[in-house]
Parts: sequence; C-alpha cells; structure tokens
Amino acid sequence: MNTEHGALLRDKIESGDITFAVIGQGYVGLPLAMEVTEAGFSCIGVDISEDRVAQANEGKSYIIDISDEQLGGAVEKGLYRATTDYSEVAKADAISICVPTPLRKTRDPDISYIQSALKQMREYITKPCLIVLESTTYPGTTEEIVAGMLAEVGLELDKDVFVAFSPERVDPGNATYHLKNTPKVIGGVTEDSTELACLLYGKFVDHVHPVGSAAEAEMVKLLENTFRAVNIALVNEMMLMCDRMDINIWRVIEAAGTKPFGFMKFTPGPGIGGHCIPLDPTYLSWKAKSYGFYNRFIELATDINGNMPRFVVQKLTRLLNDHSGKALKGSKVMLVGMAYKPNIDDLRESPALDLWALLEQWGVELYYHDDFVSEIKSLDAKSTPLDEETIKSMDAVLITTNHRHVDYENILKHAELILDTRGVYQGKSENLYSL
Ligand SMILES: NC(=O)c1ccc[n+]([C@@H]2O[C@H](COP(=O)([O-])OP(=O)(O)OC[C@H]3O[C@@H](n4cnc5c(N)ncnc54)[C@H](O)[C@@H]3O)[C@@H](O)[C@H]2O)c1
Repeated sequence: MNTEHGALLRDKIESGDITFAVIGQGYVGLPLAMEVTEAGFSCIGVDISEDRVAQANEGKSYIIDISDEQLGGAVEKGLYRATTDYSEVAKADAISICVPTPLRKTRDPDISYIQSALKQMREYITKPCLIVLESTTYPGTTEEIVAGMLAEVGLELDKDVFVAFSPERVDPGNATYHLKNTPKVIGGVTEDSTELACLLYGKFVDHVHPVGSAAEAEMVKLLENTFRAVNIALVNEMMLMCDRMDINIWRVIEAAGTKPFGFMKFTPGPGIGGHCIPLDPTYLSWKAKSYGFYNRFIELATDINGNMPRFVVQKLTRLLNDHSGKALKGSKVMLVGMAYKPNIDDLRESPALDLWALLEQWGVELYYHDDFVSEIKSLDAKSTPLDEETIKSMDAVLITTNHRHVDYENILKHAELILDTRGVYQGKSENLYSL
C-alpha cells in the first residue's frame, strides 16, 4: 500500500469489521448485497424506489436469482437493511454503485443516474472510503465523473477516497455462474484503489482479476458485450442469407459446433434485448467518436440486430400468405415468450415488445403466453393459457423466447402455423417454420 490512509482502510477490511453500502438494489445491486452478507459483512442497500426498499426489508425478493429465504435470512440476522435515506451511507467503509446506465432518446449515454447517486452520497462519505462503480459505462467515467465529482466536494484521492471500477458480469437466470464463482475484474484510478478493491471483493468472490486502470476495467466489460453483439449480428446475417438460399441455418450451426476448436456457437433470433447487449456497445462507439474513431463493427451489429424484428414480421407475412392463404392484417397471432431471454421475467429492450408493436401496426390481433410475465401493463395485455382450444384458434404461433416448462409439443400438435425464432424445434413438420 502506497498511502497511509490506504493502509488504514486495508487494516479495517482485514479485520472484517466494515460496513458495505450498495447504491441501487436491482438485478445487479441486490445479488451483490446478498453476497456481501453471505461473507458476514453488514450491508446497507440504498435505492430511490420505496416499493423495492419496503419489499427488501420484508424479505420479499423481486429479483429472480435471489430467494425470499436468502433475503429474509440476511434481514433477520441484522446483516442487511434497505433504505431510501442516503445519510445511512455515513456508516459505510465501502460503497458500490449499481444504478442504471440507459441511453437517451438520441442514443447517447445517459449517466445521470450515476451523477445523481454521487450527488446524494458524497456529503455523507466517511473517510477513508472505497467507492466502486459497477454500472456499465464508457471508458473514462470512473476517473472523470466519479473521482471528479468526489473531488468537487474536497474528497481527495488516496486520502479520503479510493475509487475503482469493477464490471458486473451477472447473468440473470444462469444456474451455473453467479457473482461468487465468476471472476471479478477490478481496475482502480490509483494503485491503492485497485489493491483495496481487490482485497475487499476477494472476501466474497472466488477470484479477482486486477487490471492496470479503471478505464481498462471499463473497456473489459464493453469488449465482452460488443463481442456478443457482433457475433449475434454475424449469425443473424448468416441466417438472413440462408433464408434467401433456402439452407437450414440451425443444422449448419449445429454441425459447425462439432468443431472442437476455433468456433463458438451463437444462434440467430428475433433481435437482442436486456439492459446490456443492445446498449453497452453504443456507450463505447459514442466515446470512440470523441477520439475521431468510428466503430464499424458496432454500428453494423446494431443495425443488423435492430432490424431483426422487421425480418420476423416479413417472414410471418410470407408464411401466412403461402401456408394459409391469409393476410397478416386481421390474423390472430400468439407470441410465446415475452422476456428478452429464457427463464427470466425481464422485459427490458425485449425484441418481443418490438414485434408486438410492429404487428399491432399491421392490424394483427395479438395474444401472448409467458409464465414469467403474467401481465404487461404498457401493452394492456395478460398472459393467455396455452390450451388446445386457444392454440387452435390462432392463425399463427410465434416462438419469441424459449422458456422452459412450455409444452412445445402441444403447440406443434395443434397450431395451424408456427414460426420458431429460437430454434426450439429441431425436427420437421408441415406447420413448422424456423428463422
Ligand atoms: N441486469 C444485468 O444483467 C446487468 C449485467 C451486467 C451489468 N449491468 C449493469 O448494471 C447496472 C444496473 O443494472 P440493473 O440491471 O441492476 O438495473 P435495475 O434497473 O435492475 O436496478 C437499478 C436500481 O437502481 C435504482 N436507482 C436508480 N437511481 C438511483 C439513485 N440515484 N440512487 C439509488 N438507487 C437508484 C433503481 O430504483 C433500481 O432499483 C447498469 O449499468 C447495467 O448496465 C446489468
């Protein structure tokens, strides 16, 4: 440790007698808070949502990966408490920020949630304190915005505050990899910041991977998600080409996947969703432009993936015409799976919502089934049961997300026409079409 205050905080962390605060108690923040309490540290969860805070304090989880037992247990042991009151931050020796980082309507990064959290917390910071930003953002945010806004109120780096970035890699609904067993990349604005953040996170995750700076850590996350967005776009484009050439892309991918090296399997779909993959690459390309650098891969991937719902509508129109002799307008269509990916309830940026909007514009009578999403208020729609009569009454069933526990065989047996956008059905049937 290079500094006196760094050594003080290190000793405090080593003693185990510290309080952690996590700002933002959503998909990222609540699991982080739970992991911290599992390691025996006391944790304060700060959120602006009174509903979430009340539910958390009652031990009622609203996040799919956290059970009521785990949350209730942490509350009962006195290790966890949620609050809307920022003054509670005064008790914290370390603070992680896990607030949203959306895009503005103009598709520029909206880091106002980070700024608002910093504005509210900075007057209560107890010195010395470690601040770790976990929200995904463009390279430079931690140093320029976080450290910058702390300096504005006189909090000095390596003395009063230590500042780092650690990308959150949580994959909601993933039963194998979770916060504890997914390596945590950490990069500080100063050497002591990196060291302290690694020391602390090493207490509750299995493996920490330090990098040379906060900007490197920010870039790691953007590389990971750009890699996914670009590869999904590549396979989507291959699918568009195979559709034109009448080649089954799913069998092509399955066969290519038998190569034990040099190939990684990605599958086509109706578009990309969630809070990360559609947004994060745009954070990077926005920042790159300020260096006069134009990210062609990102722009192309955004274009291809963003147009997938239109292709699905086009294909459905063609199939209704060819298979059933019907027009899209006035048809009854059931979307199966509204969440952006299987076995979770998250609707953010879900391509199924884009499909719904497009089909509605074309005068389609729409229904949906999703066991994880019982109601979608913005669409004024409720999940419809998938019984034989309902399936038979549809002109087409669109498989939009491949949730488990859906009786796909029953759909196959009774539907007049199926368009499978997720590769659920690998077999052949005269009423079945895939992307
Ligand atoms: N969801 C994921 O799978 C995932 C994965 C990796 C990274 N991330 C990143 O993590 C960050 C958080 O995402 P999330 O999915 O947890 O979002 P979320 O919407 O689930 O949770 C964010 C929480 O922050 C709260 N909040 C907003 N402004 C606040 C403020 N000023 N003070 C306190 N609380 C505030 C909201 O009420 C909400 O409960 C984003 O930057 C996202 O890109 C998300």
